[in-house]
Amino acid sequence: MSESANAAIHGSGKRAGPGRLKALHFASVAALGGFLFGYDTAVINGAVTAIQEHFQIDAVATGVTVAIALLGSAAGAWWAGTLADRFGRLFAMRLAAILFLVSAIGSAVPFTAWDMSWWRLVGGVAVGMASVIAPAYIAEIAPAERRGRLGTLQQLAIVLGIALSQVANWAIARAAGGAGSALGPLDAWQWMLLAEAVPAIIFGVLTFTIPESPRHLVANGKSEDAHAILRSIEPDDAELRLSEIQDSLDRERKPRLADLRNKATVLLPLVWIGIVLSMLQQLVGINVIFYYSSALWQSVGINEDSSLLLSLSTQVFNIAGTLVALALLDRAGRRPLLLTGSVGMTLTLGAAAFAFSHAGVVNGEPAMPDPYGMIALVSAHAFVFFFAISWGPVVWVLLGEMFPNRIRAAALAVAAAAQWLTNWLVTVSFPSLSELSLTGAYIGYTAFAALSIYFVWKWIPETKGRTLEEMS
Ligand code: GLC
Repeated sequence: MSESANAAIHGSGKRAGPGRLKALHFASVAALGGFLFGYDTAVINGAVTAIQEHFQIDAVATGVTVAIALLGSAAGAWWAGTLADRFGRLFAMRLAAILFLVSAIGSAVPFTAWDMSWWRLVGGVAVGMASVIAPAYIAEIAPAERRGRLGTLQQLAIVLGIALSQVANWAIARAAGGAGSALGPLDAWQWMLLAEAVPAIIFGVLTFTIPESPRHLVANGKSEDAHAILRSIEPDDAELRLSEIQDSLDRERKPRLADLRNKATVLLPLVWIGIVLSMLQQLVGINVIFYYSSALWQSVGINEDSSLLLSLSTQVFNIAGTLVALALLDRAGRRPLLLTGSVGMTLTLGAAAFAFSHAGVVNGEPAMPDPYGMIALVSAHAFVFFFAISWGPVVWVLLGEMFPNRIRAAALAVAAAAQWLTNWLVTVSFPSLSELSLTGAYIGYTAFAALSIYFVWKWIPETKGRTLEEMS
């Protein structure tokens, strides 16, 4: 057995702890990649105005600086599959940790706005990699009956990362007296970006406490190492699991991107399902709330202070909803949660569109008269909650578990890349769309939520409690 696998399983030579705790430990470390994913995508929120002023760049250049990270994520997600298959899940996690660190340092001390975009792009690549590796790794080490719950740790980490970045930004800006003001040798916005180095280092270091994925080890002829890891997680079923993994791998050939294709449908139907699932998760406009909350609320007449408070309260709903999903996923199953979420999102987005359609102009300022302002607020929070109990966590869990062993990393990479591209599209189009018609934009998101009901109903199989091998 390799040294790292040995150390990770047996710790300091003591008897391996209960399998439950082991699996929780392994999944939590992988989920830290999700924390950085959430942190990195949201940290720019508080820094962006100061960056624009610092470099004296216009709105378009600012938009590029912000959105370029999402394109990097699409690329990172795409590559992560190949890297994870060739060099292992752990290697990909460590590479992502290094890229997160380099990006945090680089983007905190850029010389020009171009440098800044470049370093944000590097961080984006790391985000994309983390978005693929964590779900794959967690699904591969988790016992079937707890896979949903452990997989949801990734989404919990993402939402905590988003929330913590906002709190850190707020605290730093407060200490400096504004995001553009100096705090010691650096400006506040530089500290905001640099702060991400801390979780990046912690993530990188902790990856040395977890073993390689048993499925990856078996695929690379290291069944003995895999067996030891499986035994530490599922003492009673290790033998059975190992032979199931072996069988499912034997049934298929070596993984190649070409394996995702078939003649009739260009890609395998299952890969298409993953792609559509990913795209719908973004097309309901969840990140409009997280990336543009201030702009969104101010455009309907809510003042700056209250809009900051509103972005914090939506975070609370996001975290609370994710905890509900964590408790329910392995009991209720994936399909009921997705369907509940889809119906809830359709109703609440529709209500928001209705409320926005009543926004008018009062004394030259945009405003929403009561009770429409109230309807908009309540429905936005309810929308976030419905997303958080369903499409937020379930999509990542499903992407981790729905593909056969041989193509998992590659197929997940394709679906996640599609998700990042869609995220990018929604993010760059929102400012112009909302200028044209905020109501129109929300009618669009409502339509996609309605479509998601049909899609889940028709295409998403229940995977609760089944092993990855049974599903292949
Ligand atoms: C999911 C989405 C991500 C979004 C987050 C919000 O992880 O993939 O784009 O920001 O949920 O909670």
